Amino acid sequence: MSIEIPEGLTELLQSFTLEVLRKQPADLLEFALQYFTQLRERDIKRGAFGNDNNSAARSGKAVNFVEEAMQIDSENGEDDEEDDEEFVAPVINRFTRRASVCAEAFNPDEDNDDKEPKITHPKTDEQRQRLQEACKDILLFKNLEAEQMSQLLDAMFEKLVEAGEHIIDQDDDGDNFYVIERGTFNIFVKVDGVELSVGTYDNRGSFGELALMYNTGRAATIVATSAGALWCLDRLTFRRIIVKNNAKRRKTYEAFIETLPLLKSLEPSERMKVVDVLSTKVYSSGEQIISQGDTADCFYIVESGQVRITMKRNQSKKDLENGEVDIAKCSRGQYFGELALVTNKPRAASAYAVDNVKCLVMDIKAFERLLGPCMDIMKRNIANYEEQLVTLFGSQTDTEDKNL
Ligand code: CMP
Repeated sequence: MSIEIPEGLTELLQSFTLEVLRKQPADLLEFALQYFTQLRERDIKRGAFGNDNNSAARSGKAVNFVEEAMQIDSENGEDDEEDDEEFVAPVINRFTRRASVCAEAFNPDEDNDDKEPKITHPKTDEQRQRLQEACKDILLFKNLEAEQMSQLLDAMFEKLVEAGEHIIDQDDDGDNFYVIERGTFNIFVKVDGVELSVGTYDNRGSFGELALMYNTGRAATIVATSAGALWCLDRLTFRRIIVKNNAKRRKTYEAFIETLPLLKSLEPSERMKVVDVLSTKVYSSGEQIISQGDTADCFYIVESGQVRITMKRNQSKKDLENGEVDIAKCSRGQYFGELALVTNKPRAASAYAVDNVKCLVMDIKAFERLLGPCMDIMKRNIANYEEQLVTLFGSQTDTEDKNL
């Protein structure tokens, strides 16, 4: 006897399961009732707007689910009000950003090094030390050669900011790239005329690279919420060094990125944007890459070698080496580290290099901005994790404290 699975059922249940894993409700039945009622209400509302093709129930899209918050196109603008509640991530219209009016005729493939004037802002030793400290974790700088890095540091200059100051306004032309030394900042994105708060920076990180990389207007507004200090890199130096470096990386990684099943729902140009934000990290055999319980800020794709994913269980169990048990292995082309970014929780497992490992690493902001369209594939895998744990650890209750 063959049983036909109704269209949308799998996605509907996967979305629901993920929301349960994410929220860990005490009363599952009550949660289910609220979840499906909300879904139904939104479906009706969408119908009323004549947007029936987007029926949430039929497509199995979750209520308030991260994927929705990561919506990149603004086609569903009428949902803004209700999505606001949990609007966690970026909104960029990936097809309609206007070109910047100061888009210079710059060909990153050309060797412009000798023609371009090098900009230098003299710094005291103390300033240079602070600058180096602020830049040490900036992924965009990670793949640079020593000489490029040194030119870039020479060109950067300090800017003190006040609470309430607009550092960047959406749609303006891009002048500088900014690295945060200290201070907190709000990120706003206007979608269909409505300005939404999509995130914050808290005393670390960088912003302002998109308009410079892609010659578009600014994609977001950045406002200081405290007094702070920024290091700025002018547009020309950014393009001469970072964009040129990215062009080389595109050549190196184009073929590999094309083969990744995770990224298959992206447009080719979007896949290249992924390459632009990936940095390479190398780990030696046995080295820890992720530690269970840590705050998550990166996503990883294995380029070479093998990575062991382990989980701490009940420490008193004697059968577990160091209280940790292997739960998965990732090799070339596979990814890890997405769960905590999607669920907004601490790392649920640890990761170790089995042999010498090379990973492509993406920071959380780029993950949220670029990988929205890949959420379906991630959701499917995340939904499998719980099943995997039940197989490994035994009963469902055993897995309850796994923070998955
Ligand atoms: P840029 O477009 O040059 O200027 C605004 C910056 O905000 C942008 O580069 C990113 O660095 C940063 N940003 C942070 N979050 C977002 C987001 N959700 N969408 C767009 N830009 C963002």
